[in-house]
Amino acid sequence: MMIMANEGNRDVGVLIVDDEPLIRKSLFEILRIEGYRVQMAASGEEAVNLLSKAKADIVVTDLKLPQMSGIDLLEKIKKITPQTEVILMTGYGTIESAVEAMKKGAFNYITKPINDQEIKITIHKIVEKRKILEENESLRRMLAKERRDHLFDLIGSSGKMQEVYHIIDSVASSNATILISGESGTGKGLVARAIHGIDQIRKDRPFVEISCGALTETLLESELFGHVKGAFTGAIKDKEGRFEYARGGTLFLDEIDAFSPKLQAKLLRVLQEGLFERVGDNTPRKADARIIVATNQNLTDLVQKGRFREDLYYRINVICIYVPPLRERKEDIPLLTRHFVQKYNQINSKKILRISGEVEKIFVEYHWPGNIRELENAIEGAVIMTKTEVINKWDIPNFSKFAASCVPKSSEKNLKKAVELPERDHIISILKDCNWNRNRAAASLGVNRTTLYNKMKKYNISKEDNSS
Ligand SMILES: Nc1ncnc2c1ncn2[C@@H]1O[C@H](COP(=O)(O)OP(=O)(O)OP(=O)(O)O)[C@@H](O)[C@H]1O
Ligand SMILES: [Mg+2]
Repeated sequence: MMIMANEGNRDVGVLIVDDEPLIRKSLFEILRIEGYRVQMAASGEEAVNLLSKAKADIVVTDLKLPQMSGIDLLEKIKKITPQTEVILMTGYGTIESAVEAMKKGAFNYITKPINDQEIKITIHKIVEKRKILEENESLRRMLAKERRDHLFDLIGSSGKMQEVYHIIDSVASSNATILISGESGTGKGLVARAIHGIDQIRKDRPFVEISCGALTETLLESELFGHVKGAFTGAIKDKEGRFEYARGGTLFLDEIDAFSPKLQAKLLRVLQEGLFERVGDNTPRKADARIIVATNQNLTDLVQKGRFREDLYYRINVICIYVPPLRERKEDIPLLTRHFVQKYNQINSKKILRISGEVEKIFVEYHWPGNIRELENAIEGAVIMTKTEVINKWDIPNFSKFAASCVPKSSEKNLKKAVELPERDHIISILKDCNWNRNRAAASLGVNRTTLYNKMKKYNISKEDNSS
């Protein structure tokens, strides 16, 4: 096998340990030509001394050394820097010791007289092994990083949320304007905060949020751009606007669709020239905040209807993050539920453990038109109402709206069976919630113990079959 001198080998440090100067020097030459960073030591003591100053990736040592033996040196190295690989050189008749060395963690041994090719190949194998380990490690890290269950305050481990996290990661440090779209309650506000929060430079500067739909045109204009004294009735002194206040940080314009034509024109100028004036003033001022806008409307529709300027739309739509509705990432529901139970436990000093299996099932099936905000509100109400450790359906205010959309999917045509199947499921779910304590389950079900026993017998329900 021909091994070419390799530029990459310069990163690999090799230490040669032998008391015979001739062997030391010839090995030094062979490995230096291969491109490795090579050092030499004439004894085990000298090697340990050198290694304490600069670590080597590979040590090639003679087994028989004057004082500290090659095996002793191997043991020391494995204690100080376990990643350092050790190759032992053995003379005739010392093969047994070499085998012992292998047991103690040596990478390999080679017999003297040293064959150039053999030492090159052995070292090359170590370098390859390291490369593979490093690649595996970085792949593992990448994969671990890729499947996240949250980013900042955004919770969710679904594939759709991974895509959202990925875009947030890639755009956070740029200056580009970002448009966040998505239905109401999907977490657009949290996405904006996450973008600000992971940007190493902006995160310590202001995050300024303004709900544009909540203000009249005049008020919004003065809030955004500021005004000078006397600009309008009530402007009793100069006032800085949010563009100025957010300098160096992020300005989050929520409900951008509510911008009037006049304000759309002003915003366009800021985005194109980075300049604006306070209301009632002519002095151009610089706007350097990163701008994030959000809407739960379809902006292209508004452009088509002539209610939103097309040029402005293209300016703000440099990068678009679409936050998917909850019904398209139902696998996030259990995680979000746990998160909100914890959140409202803390706020209300409660110790609720979870929602019942039955409620979770219904939650997963429900279509959540109000998205995460609706889920959060439901859990908040339930935490307040619940007196036990588990949230049951009767603890949830307005529960019928969830259940109504979840008609049991029974393919059973026979009426009796169609009714019995959900009853069996329901009893099992309550028994599970009560940890198979029949007294508590009967109380939860509103029946006496005998009735519960009879039903369990009828439906053939036992803990062993249903303990998951
Ligand atoms: N992925 C999420 N993880 C945790 N909480 C979330 C998540 N998404 C939204 N929320 C919570 O749900 C509520 C609504 O979120 P937010 O206000 O960000 O929605 P929005 O998309 O801005 O809605 P709107 O269009 O109505 O303004 C907030 O209390 C927020 O904390
Ligand atoms: Mg919002």
